[in-house]
Amino acid sequence: MPYFCSLMTDSKRYLVTAALPYANGPVHIGHLAGCYLPADIYVRYLKALGHDVVFICGSDEHGVPITIKAKKEGITPQQVVDKYHGIMQDAFKNFGIEFSYYGRTSSETHHHTAQEFFKNLYDKGVFKEEITRQYFDEEANQFLADRYITGTCPRCGNPNAYGDQCEKCGTSLSPTDLINPRSALSGNVPVLKETKNWFLPMGEIQGSADFQDYIKRFENWKSNIKGQCASWLNDGLQSRAMTRDLDWGVPVPLPDAEGKVLYVWFDAPIGYISATKEYFAQNGNPDAWKNYWQNEETSLVHFIGKDNIVFHAIIFPMMLMTHGEYNLPVNVPANEFLNLEGDKISTSRNWAVWLHEYLNDFPGRQDELRYVLSSISPETKDSEFTWKDYQTRVNSELVSIFGNFVNRVAVLAQKYYSGVVPENPALKDEKLLTAKANLDRDVDASIQKMNDLLSQVKLRDAQSEWMNIARAGNKFLAETEPWKLVKTDEESVKAIMFAAIQVCAKLAVSAQVFLPHTAKKLAAILNLENFSWHLLNQAEIIATGANLGVAEILYKPVEDVEIEQQLNRLSSIKAAQVEQPKASSLQEVKSDIAYEDFEKIDLRVGKVLEAERVPKADKLLKLTVDLGFEKRTILSGIAEYYKPEELVGKLVTVVANLAPRKIRGIESQGMLLMAGNDFGKLFNVGPENDIEPGSVVK
Ligand code: 2FM
Ligand code: ZN
Repeated sequence: MPYFCSLMTDSKRYLVTAALPYANGPVHIGHLAGCYLPADIYVRYLKALGHDVVFICGSDEHGVPITIKAKKEGITPQQVVDKYHGIMQDAFKNFGIEFSYYGRTSSETHHHTAQEFFKNLYDKGVFKEEITRQYFDEEANQFLADRYITGTCPRCGNPNAYGDQCEKCGTSLSPTDLINPRSALSGNVPVLKETKNWFLPMGEIQGSADFQDYIKRFENWKSNIKGQCASWLNDGLQSRAMTRDLDWGVPVPLPDAEGKVLYVWFDAPIGYISATKEYFAQNGNPDAWKNYWQNEETSLVHFIGKDNIVFHAIIFPMMLMTHGEYNLPVNVPANEFLNLEGDKISTSRNWAVWLHEYLNDFPGRQDELRYVLSSISPETKDSEFTWKDYQTRVNSELVSIFGNFVNRVAVLAQKYYSGVVPENPALKDEKLLTAKANLDRDVDASIQKMNDLLSQVKLRDAQSEWMNIARAGNKFLAETEPWKLVKTDEESVKAIMFAAIQVCAKLAVSAQVFLPHTAKKLAAILNLENFSWHLLNQAEIIATGANLGVAEILYKPVEDVEIEQQLNRLSSIKAAQVEQPKASSLQEVKSDIAYEDFEKIDLRVGKVLEAERVPKADKLLKLTVDLGFEKRTILSGIAEYYKPEELVGKLVTVVANLAPRKIRGIESQGMLLMAGNDFGKLFNVGPENDIEPGSVVK
C-alpha cells in the first residue's frame, strides 16, 4: 500500500533553518518546544524519505540581549557569547538535535556576508537614508537601543513595556510610543537626538508585484503566521532602520557610518546564509551553498517561535527579494509559547527547565523529554509543561504502552524461539484472524495518518499516531493472548509473534524521527540495520529465521522523588523572586530634620522577657521588655512574622519615650523598631552583640 509515493519518489533538496538563539543564556525547554525539536523531527523525516537536506542553526551573538547580559554579569559582550555559544551547542548535540552545521554570527564569514548583503542593497538604492530623532542617554553618552528604553504601553498600560514591544499585550512598539520613557542604562529620562540611519522602505516593497506574489504562499501556512502577517500588512508596513547607533554588532560598511552597526534583525537571518557557506567550505565544496540558497528547486523552510514571525515571513523575505538572487521561504512553521508550571518561561527570571541541567539530572533520558515536549507542542496555542505531567506521560505512555509492548514481544520471542524470528503460518481460527485483520488495519491507518501529519508539519499529532501503532500492538496481544495459546496452538502463536515483531520493526523505523535514541536501542533489540522509511510500506520487515538482538528495558519509570527535586528547585526560584523587593518601590526619603529633633527620641536596648499573643488580635504580640531601669509592657504588630517563643531572650531597640497608648484595653509603654521589606514583612532591628538592656541607641 503506497502511502506516500509522491513524497518518496521525487527526491528534493531542502534548506531547513531553526531560529538562531541569542547567546545570552543556555537553552531551555521553551526554546526546544518552540522550534528546535520540531525542526529536528521534520528534518529527520525528510532525510528518512531520502531527501537532500541541510539543517542550519547557530548562535545569534549580536543585539541588545547580549549587551544587557554583559552589563548584568560585568563582562564583555564577547565573553558572554563565547560562554553561551559553547553551552548551547553542546546541549543541542547531547539532546540529539542534529544540525548539519551550527554557526555563530561573530564569525568572520558572517560579518563579511552580512556586510556584502547590506552593500548590495545599498548599491541598488534600496535603502532610504533618513535623519531621525532617537532616544539618547546623556549620562551614558549613547543612543538607546529599543530594548534599553522602558515605559508604559500605550495600548494596555503595562508600566514595563520595552521600546520595541510590550510583552504583556504583544503590541509591537516604537520607543517614542512609550508613555514616560526611561533609559534602562541609567534610569534617567532619555532625550531625543538627531542621527542618520538607513531604512528599508517596507511600505514601498509591500506594494511591489514581487511581494504581492510572494504572500500568496501564506495561504498554505499555519493560521498563526497568516493571522500575524495579515495584521501587519493590513496596518500598512512602515520603513524600518536597518542600521543602529550601537557599538556591538556588524559595522555598517559605509564610510559615513562611524559608530553604527547593522540592525540585529538584518544581520541575524543572514546568519543562516553564512553558516551554510561555512558548512560547505568545511566540506571542501565552497560554492555548494549557492545550490541551497539560490537554486529555485531547493525548498527553504524556517522554523521559528511566534515572536520571530514578522522577521522571517516579511522582513527577511523582503531583503532576499530586493537582493534578487535568493530563494524565498516556502514555509515558516512557527510555534506558540510553552509555559512552565503556570508561568511564562523567562531566562532573566531563571524560570525555566534548562536543557543542560535536564541532561545532567536525567542522563540518557533525552527521548523522554523529546516525547513529552512533542506531546504538548504549542503548535496552535500556548501550552504548558509541568513536571507532574512529564511523569505521567513518560510512565503511562512511553513506559506502559510503547515500552511494555516492545518488551513483551522481545521477551516472548526469546522465550519461545530463542530470539529467532518464527515462521508465519496462516491463521485459521476466526477470532485470531479478526484480531490480525484489526491489527493490520489499525497499524496501516496510523502509519498513513502519521505520514500525512509529518508532511504537514503537524508533529504533535504525528507522534500521537506513532503511539497508536504501539496501542494497536498491545490490543492485538491482549486479544490473542499468545502466552496462553502457546500451550494448545503453537502454530498460531508463531504467526502472532511474527506479526508482533513486524509491528515492533515499524515502531523502530518510525521512531527515528521523534525519538532517535529509542530508535537505535530498539533497532539493536531487533537486530535491524536498515532504517529506510520505505520499509513502513512493507508487510514484512524482519524475515523468518532472522536473529533478534538482546531484550533490553527501554525506559525506567520516573520516580516521585525525581519530580519532587525538580519542583523544589522551581519553588526556591519563586521564593527568591518573591523576597526580592524592587528598588523602584522603596519609599522616598522624608524631608530633613534637625539633629535636635532626632535627639528628642530616646532609643534604648531592650531584652524581651515574655511574649504572648493578644486574644482576638491576629497581628499583636504582648511583650514584657526589660529596659534595665524598668520592665515595660509593649504591644507590637509583629505576630505574623515572629512566634512568641522566638522573641523571648532577643535584644530589641525600643523607643522608650513614646507617650503610652492603649491598644485593645492594654497600655503599650513604648515601641519596637522594625525594618519592613517591600512586601510588608517586618524584621527586628536589634543590636547584634549582647549589650546590656537600657543602653542608649544613638
Ligand atoms: O528571538 C531570538 O532568539 C533571535 N535570536 C532569533 C533570530 S532568528 C534569525 F533571524 F537568526
Ligand atoms: Zn501592552
